[in-house]
Amino acid sequence: NEVVEESLRSPICCIMGHVDTGKTKLLDCIRGTNVQEGEAGGITQQIGATYFPAENIRERTKELKPDAKLKVPGLLVIDTPGHESFSNLRSRGSNLCDIAILVVDIMHGLEPQTIESLNLLRKRNTEFIVALNKIDRLYGWKTSKNAPIEKALALQSKDVVIEFNMRLTHVITQFKEQGLNTEIYYKNREMGDTISIVPTSAISGEGIPDLLLYLVMWSQKTMVEKLTFVDKVQCTVLEVKVIPGHGTTIDVVLVNGVLHEGDQIVACGSQGPIVTTVRSLLTPHPMKELRVKGTYLHHREVKAAQCIKITAQGLEHAVAGTSLHVIGPDVDVEEAKKTAMED
Ligand code: GTP
Ligand code: MG
Ligand code: NA
Repeated sequence: NEVVEESLRSPICCIMGHVDTGKTKLLDCIRGTNVQEGEAGGITQQIGATYFPAENIRERTKELKPDAKLKVPGLLVIDTPGHESFSNLRSRGSNLCDIAILVVDIMHGLEPQTIESLNLLRKRNTEFIVALNKIDRLYGWKTSKNAPIEKALALQSKDVVIEFNMRLTHVITQFKEQGLNTEIYYKNREMGDTISIVPTSAISGEGIPDLLLYLVMWSQKTMVEKLTFVDKVQCTVLEVKVIPGHGTTIDVVLVNGVLHEGDQIVACGSQGPIVTTVRSLLTPHPMKELRVKGTYLHHREVKAAQCIKITAQGLEHAVAGTSLHVIGPDVDVEEAKKTAMED
């Protein structure tokens, strides 16, 4: 009984921030997965993508707002690395998204890649919210699993509230030094001009309902035009990967349009344009990370926005970060090849 509007696609949300602020862990907390613990050195080294259907978001936010009207089919979240050496991947992620979460560790405040991420988002005028993460590390924090943040804060001792407010104020001051007004989200009356801060814990889940609801409600309220589904395919290659049994595959984010099995596609290749045919369209299960090996769902067609693994011949030299083009009935192959190589 969701009020999903046919014409709206899922918003694409990029999660960014300094290394080890808890980006992947926050997604694990929402998915109920353990991706972060499987990462080499606990460091994200690839772009990830996960689709969260509206019904799961509804379930996670019903305590906070039982009657929320979710009009988008879901949320597609792009995970990015925070380590300084991956600024190209942060840039790729931020170029794709409609909205973003900038994660700040409440114990550390703003750090170098927080500021780098902030500047990437500002460059494209991407709206974002701040997740002030690791609140469970405040000394004496009482856990209330997956609780809305105001409820969780109401349970804390006076000392915890004092420390929380002190650290929050410090972060607001640091953002001010970067020329940004920020405010805790439930006190923010000037959404847009003033950036909202949502305190969270990726370990015990406090503030997660607030984060999810805010992202969905905000994007469907202020980005209707941007989120209106269009037929023209807009698709970006995230990674090129060899998968046993599938050969070289490409992980893509379909931003708009529909992809079909059998579609003729053109990708940018390091040795020239690649013209090939989609053999299969695979997606991870909802709430599962695309970059983690697992079982895939096969589809005849996939509608945006989604993350997809495409298998096809000749993808060995495909270049990550470039656009994928579909050769429709009124598209000239030579023209498409030229466009593909312009990336
Ligand atoms: P990169 O992708 O490598 O930039 O890191 P990340 O931002 O994805 O952080 P990650 O999820 O890898 O978490 C880093 C460490 O912080 C891990 O040891 C997590 O268990 C821990 N951590 C993350 N979020 C929280 C939190 O809310 N509370 C506490 N106590 N620890 C957290
Ligand atoms: Mg990570
Ligand atoms: Na990490």
